[in-house]
Amino acid sequence: MPETTTVDYSTKIPNNVGLMDDQRVLKALEQWHPGYIDWWMTMGPAGFQTADVYLRTAVSIDPKGWAKFDYVKMPEYRWGILLAPRQEDRQVNFGTHKGDKAWQEVPGEYRAMLRRLIVIQGDTEPASVEQQRHLGKTAPSLYDMRNLFQVNVEEGRHLWAMVYLLQKYFGKDGREEAEGLLQRRSGDADKPRMLGAFNEETPDWLSFFMFTFFTDRDGKMQLESLAQSGFDPLSRTCRFMLTEEAHHMFVGETGVGRAIERTCKAMQEAGIEDPNDIAAVRKLGVIDLPTMQKKANLHFSLSLDLFGSEVSTNAANYYSSGVKGRFQETRIEDDHQLMSATYPVSKLVDGKVKMMDEPALTAINMRLRDDYVADCAKGVERWNKAIEKTGVKFKLALPHVAFHRGIGEFGNVKASPEGEVLSEAEWARRKDQWLPSKADGDFIASLMAPCWERGKFASWIAPPKAGIDNKPGDFEYVKVHQA
Ligand SMILES: [Fe+2]
Ligand SMILES: [Fe+2]
Repeated sequence: MPETTTVDYSTKIPNNVGLMDDQRVLKALEQWHPGYIDWWMTMGPAGFQTADVYLRTAVSIDPKGWAKFDYVKMPEYRWGILLAPRQEDRQVNFGTHKGDKAWQEVPGEYRAMLRRLIVIQGDTEPASVEQQRHLGKTAPSLYDMRNLFQVNVEEGRHLWAMVYLLQKYFGKDGREEAEGLLQRRSGDADKPRMLGAFNEETPDWLSFFMFTFFTDRDGKMQLESLAQSGFDPLSRTCRFMLTEEAHHMFVGETGVGRAIERTCKAMQEAGIEDPNDIAAVRKLGVIDLPTMQKKANLHFSLSLDLFGSEVSTNAANYYSSGVKGRFQETRIEDDHQLMSATYPVSKLVDGKVKMMDEPALTAINMRLRDDYVADCAKGVERWNKAIEKTGVKFKLALPHVAFHRGIGEFGNVKASPEGEVLSEAEWARRKDQWLPSKADGDFIASLMAPCWERGKFASWIAPPKAGIDNKPGDFEYVKVHQA
């Protein structure tokens, strides 16, 4: 079967890449399948594997309608291999090969580079499922529980997407890497996931929403730049993943938004005007806005580290080679080779943060991070508008990029959310004002009581504006009694 816009469900692994006619890859994937299911059963959502969940499954790659909604038990979800349609005349759009026909096979000289990029991306997908595996038990509603599981099964599918590329294009080492993706574990001391933010805990639902807002958005930026790749199968894979990723960020933005809405409403009703009167606000059974700011500070700074060093020869090589581009590469007006261009990079000079011009090629990570920060800022602005409407006097803000960093220019300094460089002692004295403290975590944990009655929501979060798939407010998104 040739590549199609509809998905072939006749094979064990749904796909639109003609797996029926590619027995070698089909076999390799079928052999990988039991290990994946084993991983899903042991590391996937804890306690809900037998529940019927109202999930969307991709049945086509037509942008006008690719999803079908129905009740599915998660282990029976049809994880498939879906690539965006092939554009016949697609070219390499940047780097030294600019203008060449896009590659349908892996160029020998870039094999190691491409494999590494695919493995790093692939590793994040199961990692987030592992991080979120205990959240079902404290879901603030059936609606939210369903969204969590939707995100989880799609991250599982993203793992399949990367494993397909490894099995199809990278031979024996691809198969070994595919195994490795099932072996590493988020937060494990001996075999951790590859990137820092994916080894952190996601202890509560506010963290989950912040994670899907900030860290899935890093995923979006990475996928956007891999979607530019001259290696066409990678580009097409990432383009389809991005359509799913949009929902993950929606879950994050509206999740935080609904927590904000509930807090502001409760404050109004109780006549509390000072958002910093934390004790009074917490007594209402909602999360105070300063604590939300701290959570945002944490997840934003962890996510910034995922962009790597501001100045990076690896990133320059990826770009020159045509394997990883910039955000919206083809919409940028320049020569797309960057042989002589410069780009401003924030650096620490004599204890002060300054902008310094660097060769644009080595500053590729910095540029992607800037695009990411701008994208985050828009979401924060929308939260602030919602706060303003309620009359509560409080504004959320993104901390400075030097704040709480582990990687790059600011990896070794301590800085305030305003970007002021601090001594170790000063940092130790004040960090609980800026990052969630043990007490903040305990308070949030105390609110994380499950709320699984149809149409009901936990005390700390407002209902959504609309249901999933236009379902009414009391729709039974998850049949928990079966779990
Ligand atoms: Fe993903
Ligand atoms: Fe995601």
